[in-house]
Amino acid sequence: MIGQKIDKAAAILRQGGLVAIPTETVYGLAANALDSSAVLKIFEAKNRPSFDPLIVHVGEAKDAHIYAQNIPQVALRLMDSFWPGPLTFILEKKALIPHEVTSGHSTVGLRMPNHPIALSLLKSLDFPLAAPSANPFGYVSPTSAAHVSQQLNDKVDYILDGGRSAVGVESTIIAFEGEEVVVLRLGGIEVEAIEKVLGKKVLKVKTSSSNPKAPGMLDSHYNPGKKVILVDDIRAELQKYKGRVDVGALTFSLQDWADNTWVPLTRKGDIKEAAKNLFHSLRLLDHDTIQLIIAERVPETGLGPAINDRLKRASV
Ligand code: TXA
Ligand code: MG
Repeated sequence: MIGQKIDKAAAILRQGGLVAIPTETVYGLAANALDSSAVLKIFEAKNRPSFDPLIVHVGEAKDAHIYAQNIPQVALRLMDSFWPGPLTFILEKKALIPHEVTSGHSTVGLRMPNHPIALSLLKSLDFPLAAPSANPFGYVSPTSAAHVSQQLNDKVDYILDGGRSAVGVESTIIAFEGEEVVVLRLGGIEVEAIEKVLGKKVLKVKTSSSNPKAPGMLDSHYNPGKKVILVDDIRAELQKYKGRVDVGALTFSLQDWADNTWVPLTRKGDIKEAAKNLFHSLRLLDHDTIQLIIAERVPETGLGPAINDRLKRASV
């Protein structure tokens, strides 16, 4: 059954179509990365500005050498440790990657996703898949097939359902200065985990939009279409809005609020579970009756920094 669905997705991709694919981080909007006209359809469907480059997904780690060159030793070591998984490498591109994919940059973002359906699809194709998150540009990323169909149904040729994304935040993106690692986006692999493999601190974390190497990392992103405020003391903040029915709360520690609509990211203080639920919960609060979302900053451990990064961008 799932085999047939994968075959259908593969056939559409071979013809230059668009398929939403499950990954462990979020759903991607995929096309043949080696076919410029297929890639342009992604930008059109998402309403994505052409200056924001796409990540290229591969089915095997060794494929990195087909699409990138002069790969630093340290990158190969990190691929060994974290692929398949939520870590994207910005590397010098080879000529066969079209400029449309990289928005004219000489680098390409490569990732091998850790999802059985995505991997078996990729292995059945003889080209890699360019795929950004499958949401309209600037909106919250999708972590289920339903999220994709709610917004992009008529813009994609097929949605391959692989259940809910297990990680729930996008991949960590790293670039290299020689053999030194620079983090461009916080995500599913913690900086500490990278440092543990390296045996030292990473060089820099540069995740602001002023960074020319990461043209798409706009400060304002993940916008649920409502005003979002991010606070440390959610109980005190909610107290201010007591009785206002148009306020929704996204909470981490708070579990017992009677007033207002609230959605807990986790019931047991589990930061991984909070990441998994993050985008789904933001979408739950994006309904007509809610005008303001108050979100509680989560602890800065594990995936905490990646969650807070998304909440901060949602609040800009
Ligand atoms: O987990 C993920 O990474 C998901 C799944 C589908 O794989 N994809 C994803 O793609 O989050 P997207 O397009 O939403 O975010 C990709 C980010 C953008 O901010 C883009 O600017 C950056 O990666 N990026 C891609 N190629 C780049 C390059 N050559 N140099 C610098 N940044 C790059
Ligand atoms: Mg995105």
